[in-house]
Amino acid sequence: MSEPLLVVRGLSKQFVSANETVPVIEKLSFTLGQGRSLALTGRSGSGKSTLLNLLCGLEVADAGSIALRDQVFEAGAAAAKHRAAAWARLRKQHIGVVFQEANLMPALTLLENVQFRAYLAGRDPAHSEDWLTRLNIGELARRYPDQVSGGQRQRAALAMVFAMEPALILADEPTGSLDRHTSDEVTGLMFELQARHGCSLILATHDAELAAGCQQHLDLGHLSGV
Ligand SMILES: Nc1ncnc2c1ncn2[C@@H]1O[C@H](COP(=O)(O)OP(=O)(O)O)[C@@H](O)[C@H]1O
Ligand SMILES: [Mg+2]
Repeated sequence: MSEPLLVVRGLSKQFVSANETVPVIEKLSFTLGQGRSLALTGRSGSGKSTLLNLLCGLEVADAGSIALRDQVFEAGAAAAKHRAAAWARLRKQHIGVVFQEANLMPALTLLENVQFRAYLAGRDPAHSEDWLTRLNIGELARRYPDQVSGGQRQRAALAMVFAMEPALILADEPTGSLDRHTSDEVTGLMFELQARHGCSLILATHDAELAAGCQQHLDLGHLSGV
């Protein structure tokens, strides 16, 4: 196995509301190597999005630890402020997140969106147009997000993530809003670029065909016994 990029140990997360406690992630442990891909499956509500949020610091775990690159995050330990700052730095420079619907800035062209993301991550924005070309939307670089299709927006979102040269990509049902053909095209490109650039990928999906394209598999529905 390649060097581990991410080591998760005994991770637990529950949501508490006025009248109930919902355990979502329970004592989860796994390791993801550098350059490897992991499919996160399980029915709707099994905790896929919650786990992705934990893995980029948008949710805080109740127990367990997450080691990513040179950082170790222990639940409940270090000062919350310090931890939040460390996660924010990782999200800015090393973790690319892709959601079901591309969240591009509407006032910027596709190219400007990619350039801005690269700039934020401290990378050279000069390569931004190349990324759009590699995702087959080079000719749309100067259009605004509302002037292109959903599939094209999702390609632009992927171009943004690759332009930041991330160590880890977290994709939450990234093709859930696309038709089969477009979804296959977009994910084919995602896997190809991920393999070529050696970043790791965690892909949450309920699509068995998509999940089969990943090297490792984690079924949250199965693990939590639902
Ligand atoms: N912020 C929250 N507050 C309370 N419950 C939540 C919150 N976020 C998610 N949940 C609950 O946690 C469970 C897992 O949700 P989620 O991670 O979105 O699942 P999935 O992405 O697999 O569909 C669901 O029961 C959901 O209702
Ligand atoms: Mg989800």
